[in-house]
Amino acid sequence: MGKETLTITDNRTGKTYEVPVEHGAIRAIDLRQIRVSDDDFGLLSYDPAFMNTASCKSTITFIDGDKGILRYRGYPIEQLAERSTFLETAYLILHGELPTRPQLEDWIYHITHHTMIHENIKKFMDGFHYDAHPMGILAGTVGALSTFYPDAKNILDPANRQRQIYRLIAKMPTLAAFAYRHSLGMQYAYPDNDLSYGGNFLNMLFKATELKYKPDPVLEKALDVLFILHVDHEQNCSANAMRSVGSSHVDPYSAVAAATAALYGPLHGGANEAVLRMLREIGSKDKVGEFLKKVKAREALLMGFGHRVYKSYDPRAKVIRQTAEQVFTVTGRNPLLDIALELERIALEDDFFVNRRLYPNVDFYSGIIYQAMQFPVDIYPVLFAIGRTPGWLAQWQEMLTDSEQKICRPRQLYIGSAERDYVPIEKRK
Ligand code: SDX
Repeated sequence: MGKETLTITDNRTGKTYEVPVEHGAIRAIDLRQIRVSDDDFGLLSYDPAFMNTASCKSTITFIDGDKGILRYRGYPIEQLAERSTFLETAYLILHGELPTRPQLEDWIYHITHHTMIHENIKKFMDGFHYDAHPMGILAGTVGALSTFYPDAKNILDPANRQRQIYRLIAKMPTLAAFAYRHSLGMQYAYPDNDLSYGGNFLNMLFKATELKYKPDPVLEKALDVLFILHVDHEQNCSANAMRSVGSSHVDPYSAVAAATAALYGPLHGGANEAVLRMLREIGSKDKVGEFLKKVKAREALLMGFGHRVYKSYDPRAKVIRQTAEQVFTVTGRNPLLDIALELERIALEDDFFVNRRLYPNVDFYSGIIYQAMQFPVDIYPVLFAIGRTPGWLAQWQEMLTDSEQKICRPRQLYIGSAERDYVPIEKRK
C-alpha cells in the first residue's frame, strides 16, 4: 500500500495537490486550498443528506451495513440483548466500559431516584387534547424540563452533565407514561422505585386500582431487550439533530427535544407506528401481493424496510423476531405477524427489493411486539425515544468533549438570483 495521501489534479489550473487520508477519509477543509484565482473561496464538498460525509469521529457505536454488524463500544448487540440490561447498556454507551457491580448499583440508584417530575408538568400535560400524539407531547414536555433545571445550561461541567443525564434517562418514561394516561383520561400512576426500569414503565402505563402493580416478567424482559436494541445507532437523523442543536451549547433538555422531533418522522422512528398501520391496511396474507404491487409502482413505501446504512438484514430485527416469540407465549400470537412474515418472504425474493438491497430494519417487527403488549400504536415512537435517550446523550457528550467540534454551521452552493434592484409594486408583472 502506498502513502496515505490523495493526489488531486485540478484540470482547470493544471495544479496538483496532495491531501492526507486518515481513517479512510480526507478532511473537506483540505479542499479549500484548491482555487482557480486568489479571490476564489476554494473548493467545497457537496453532499446533500450527508450520503458520504462523516460529521465526527466517534468511539460509541460501530455499524457494518454490508455485514449486518452493530456493536456498542465494541460489544455485539446480540450479546448485550441476551446478557445485559438496558440500564447496564446505557452505562456502557455513556461511560465506554461495562460497569463494575458498585458502579452499576450507584447508576441504578441515581436513575431510580430521579423518575419523579415536577407537579407543574401535569398542568401543561393536561392542556393537550386527549388525542394529542404522544410524540408531540414528549417533544414539548422534555423541552419544557429545561425551564425546571436552569443549571443544566452549565454543559461544560461534567458533574452537571451527569446530573442531567440521570434526570433525562429517568424522566423520559415518566413523561411518556403520563402522556399515555392523559390520552385515556386516567389519573397518572406514579413511579414505583421497587420496580426495574422497564417494570416501572409498565407500572406507570398500566397500573389500575391495585395497590402495587406487578409487571409480567416475560413482558418486562422483552421491553428491556427492546430498549437495549434502540440505545444508539451512530449518526442517525435524530443523533445528528442532538449533536447539531447541542453544538450551540444549549441545555440537554432542549437538544433531546430536537432529537425527539427528528425521531418523530415516519422515515425515522415514526416508522414502527407506520408499519402497524401498513399491516392493518393490508389486512390479510392474501392481500400482500396486491400491496407490494403498489410499493413497486411507487404508490407506497414498504415501511420497516430499507436503511441508509444496512444493506443487509438489520441485526436488531433478527433479535426482535426472536423476542416476539417469547412475548407471544404470554400475549398470544399476533395475527399481524403472519402478514409481516409473508411480506418479508416475498420481498426478500423480489428483484425490486433485492436490487435495492432493502431488508427489514429495526422498525419492521418491533411494532408487532408492542401491539401484542397492548401498547397503543401512537406510543411506539415514544418507546423508541426512551430507548434512544442514552445514545443521544452519549453522542451529545462526545461532541462537547471533542476538541475538533464547534457550532455546526454547514456551507451551501448558492444557485439563486444574481444581484438585482427592488421593483416598486406598481411595476411588477
Ligand atoms: C430508522 O439511520 C438510522 O440508523 C435509523 C435507525 C436508527 O436506529 O436510528 O436505524 C432507525 O429510522 C430505521 C428506518 C425506518 N424507516 C423506515 O422503515 C421507512 C421506510 N424506509 C425508507 O424510507 C428508506 O429505506 C430509508 C429512509 C430508511 C432509507 O432511505 P435512503 O437510504 O435515503 O434510501 P433511498 O430513499 O434513496 O432508497 C433507495 C431506493 C429508492 O428507489 P430508487 O428511487 O433508487 O428506484 O430504494 C427505494 C427508494 O425508492 N426504497 C424503498 C424503501 N426504502 C427505499 N422503496 C419501497 N419501500 C421502502 N421502504
